[in-house]
Amino acid sequence: MHGYLLTAYGAPLSHVPSDLPDLRPGPGEVLIRNEAIGLNYPDALMVQGKYQKRPEPPFVPGRDCAGTVIAVGEGVDGFQPDDPVVAQVFSGAFADQVRAPLNRVFPRPAEVSAVDAAGAMTVFNTAYVAVSIRAKVKAGDRVVVTGAAGGVGAAAVQLAANLGAHVVGIVSSEEKAELVRRSGAGQALIIADREEEPLKNAFKTQVRRTWGDDRGADVVIDTVGGTMFQAGLRALGFAGKLVVVGFASGDIPAAKANYLLYNNLSVMGAPLDIHFDEALDQIREGTAWWLGLLAAGKAQANVTAVLPFDQLMQGLQDILDRKVTGKLVVRTGAGA
Ligand SMILES: NC(=O)c1ccc[n+]([C@@H]2O[C@H](COP(=O)([O-])OP(=O)(O)OC[C@H]3O[C@@H](n4cnc5c(N)ncnc54)[C@H](OP(=O)(O)O)[C@@H]3O)[C@@H](O)[C@H]2O)c1
Repeated sequence: MHGYLLTAYGAPLSHVPSDLPDLRPGPGEVLIRNEAIGLNYPDALMVQGKYQKRPEPPFVPGRDCAGTVIAVGEGVDGFQPDDPVVAQVFSGAFADQVRAPLNRVFPRPAEVSAVDAAGAMTVFNTAYVAVSIRAKVKAGDRVVVTGAAGGVGAAAVQLAANLGAHVVGIVSSEEKAELVRRSGAGQALIIADREEEPLKNAFKTQVRRTWGDDRGADVVIDTVGGTMFQAGLRALGFAGKLVVVGFASGDIPAAKANYLLYNNLSVMGAPLDIHFDEALDQIREGTAWWLGLLAAGKAQANVTAVLPFDQLMQGLQDILDRKVTGKLVVRTGAGA
């Protein structure tokens, strides 16, 4: 097989692909002919040794992948050779063969390309955990999504809109606002000033004005953190819920308990990874749902560029340099 075997941590462009021995599935594993790889910010951290978990090299990094089944290991039911699949592994996706544990592999409808599925895997599942499992968004809810044109944000906008919620997306430019409106948000608010007081006031007034009364939001899905989180709390109405997804701003905020108490609010985390172990049935249900939305054209993976395999590390560098809007996907030799 062909893959990126990382022998030492380093900047993305220090890693090169090579020929590696073919893989065999172990017990409880599915061996995937990997056609497409979805790139995420954590991948860029992982190859540098800056991710929260640091496997000892040598190892093949990479999380999101999609293709077809080559073979299954002992004890695996439900998958057969040539079945289309999508997977999120802890490592190993930057190769044209991937060994995936059974709890990380999902059937892929024939209508959803490997490129779209790999591009959507982490961001749609994260959005699903935030929107459905944690916030329990339902038809008629008022939902605000920060970083709404980002990977997780755009997925959250689409899932909430498909549930019948009234969605407002917060973005920093007109170009991003247009993407968010196309994704199904009733409104996109362009808020570029990131200073704390102007941001809090903008949320208090503009977000509330959007719905024409003073009730505020039922749910805020926050992917940005920092002052955006503080402002998000001010947008919530009675019994509002703020779901912490991530800190794209790099600033981890703190919530004052008295503010939560006086305003009857909840703040909750939405970590994806732990759900594969603790709530696999819900993740299976959610993955089938959003794949069905993609298959029916009711949601978009927003893949903006498909790179050849030898450009994978350049893609990670572009993510670090903030040159990417939408999702970057790499096509392997198996998908060519
Ligand atoms: N909970 C989980 O399990 C989980 C899973 C995946 C990702 N995450 C985390 O969720 C966050 C969002 O991930 P993503 O894949 O959606 O990221 P992304 O595609 O890079 O989008 C992040 C968005 O945040 C906004 N932003 C505001 N300030 C920013 C700053 N200083 N730097 C970068 N972006 C900034 C940007 O929109 P504007 O410019 O319009 O403001 C951008 O579109 C990240 O922190 C990621 O690590 C968490």
